[in-house]
Amino acid sequence: MRILFVGDVFGSAGRRIVREHLPHVIAERGADLVIINAENAAGGFGVTPAIADDLFNLGAHVLTTGNHVWDKREIIEYMQSEGEDSHERPRRLIRPANFVAGTPGYGFYEGELPDGQTYAVINLQGRVFMGASEDPFRTADALLDRLRARVIVVDLHAEATSEKVAMGWYLDGRVTAVVGTHTHVPTADDRVLPGGTAYQTDVGMSGPYDSVIGVEKELVLQRFLTGMPGKFEAAKGDPRMAATLIECDGRTGRAISTQRLLLGE
Ligand SMILES: [Fe+2]
Ligand SMILES: [Fe+2]
Repeated sequence: MRILFVGDVFGSAGRRIVREHLPHVIAERGADLVIINAENAAGGFGVTPAIADDLFNLGAHVLTTGNHVWDKREIIEYMQSEGEDSHERPRRLIRPANFVAGTPGYGFYEGELPDGQTYAVINLQGRVFMGASEDPFRTADALLDRLRARVIVVDLHAEATSEKVAMGWYLDGRVTAVVGTHTHVPTADDRVLPGGTAYQTDVGMSGPYDSVIGVEKELVLQRFLTGMPGKFEAAKGDPRMAATLIECDGRTGRAISTQRLLLGE
């Protein structure tokens, strides 16, 4: 079984490069399960129902998010429109599971592919240099107790490399893959850990690399140089799709290999 995980789609440039590459990568690499982090898909800040639909139409089974999930307010109603047992699209757009109790939406999704293969996706957020949330480690434990699927992919949306590496070891042998998102910089540490869990600290951004992690670089430079507030705008130049392809045994959920991809125009 092959799983394709696409890193944070950023703005219109990110959506365009994903539209260009995703269909042929799915076909040529034989991806069975496609997961996309969509937290920056709408102009760099959040995701709208229409953009979520576009990503599902391109072949995504599950969309994950992170700290930017609520930036477009209309996504709250969309995510609340389906109950926990639903398999409709709004239920397949998830947010970090360790957000505080009472937060809209769900932090995991468990589903089945047309061939009967079951799978689960868990979204978690780190706590180092991030907003307040519950403990992602204990949240993972609690979810793993209740999930039935053997193939389980964890998107750990976090800033600190140490917290992400720690989670990889914590979940090694218990999930198929732990992949990081949020920093928008792809890391070269993709590997299969000894227990059979594929790991990568950050898949990287699917968006404009002629930027500061997606934002127009002049605007970010001004912020650093002057400390003055200013509106951030999504950049456009040098779009690339960052993704990771994980091969696993569908019966045991153990990862066999992992390979990172970075595809430009
Ligand atoms: Fe992001
Ligand atoms: Fe983020």
